Amino acid sequence: MNSLQGKVIVITGGAGGIGEATARMAHAQGASVVITDREAGPVEAIAESLGERAVGLAVDVTRREDNERMTATAVEKFGRLDAAFLNAGIEGEVGPFDSRTDEAWNKVLDVNVHGVRYGVEAAIPAMRKAGGGSIVITSSVAGLRGAAGLSPYVSSKHAVVGMMRCLAAELGADGIRVNTLNPGPVDNRMMRSIEDQAKPGHGDEVHEMFASRIPLGRYVTNEECAAMAVMLFSDAAGGCNGNTYLVDGGYCAQ
Ligand SMILES: NC(=O)c1ccc[n+]([C@@H]2O[C@H](COP(=O)([O-])OP(=O)(O)OC[C@H]3O[C@@H](n4cnc5c(N)ncnc54)[C@H](O)[C@@H]3O)[C@@H](O)[C@H]2O)c1
Repeated sequence: MNSLQGKVIVITGGAGGIGEATARMAHAQGASVVITDREAGPVEAIAESLGERAVGLAVDVTRREDNERMTATAVEKFGRLDAAFLNAGIEGEVGPFDSRTDEAWNKVLDVNVHGVRYGVEAAIPAMRKAGGGSIVITSSVAGLRGAAGLSPYVSSKHAVVGMMRCLAAELGADGIRVNTLNPGPVDNRMMRSIEDQAKPGHGDEVHEMFASRIPLGRYVTNEECAAMAVMLFSDAAGGCNGNTYLVDGGYCAQ
């Protein structure tokens, strides 16, 4: 299936679990991809392994000018911009609400909220020029539910759901659809970090505890998240605007 034939997509956090899986799946479905992350090496290697229609670029999402360079690269190399996957994120430190420093809060909000804002701002002019587009922001089940010990992260993921809803209302008239991808626990580095921080030396116990709360009995995979993102980029999702798209194994159904 080539559901993304001819589309040009920028991806942040492209060296991470969900970002790389999405870059590979979008490319396999015919898209041209600008794959970005903090360091050039890993994303350049992914782009090289994909061959044509792929570029790797160092982008720190907390820098407005980096986001603008990302969009400009898509237009320069591939002629247009159809979709933006604003997916870079950090989990921050796990701990009680009243033990979080200003620095810990700001670090998470800078990447997970302002990083998304800059990405959207950079994408809008190019998408208007293209006659429309699809913006997919990676939120989380933590954007819809609370979680003890993860207040900056949970707050940041709720914030981008609010941002998405405002954007969907504002940009619909331009043909720009805006949605969030809301994964449950994913079997990858970020969850491993949260598990190890929650119970140092016993992360596997935390993993079992989280998995037991998921109706499917397991974490979801990077590829399962990627499949939802790819669907939201595609014209098949033409009616999808302003919503949260869960890939959570049924976690939020309870
Ligand atoms: N892993 C999970 O269980 C899970 C669940 C729900 C939502 N999410 C969200 O999914 C998204 C992708 O995370 P992942 O699970 O692939 O984890 P990951 O840690 O593998 O990927 C995150 C990527 O973001 C990049 N990044 C961090 N700060 C950046 C910055 N300032 N500029 C550019 N890139 C930066 C990292 O280098 C990394 O490659 C994140 O927004 C995360 O919050 C993850």
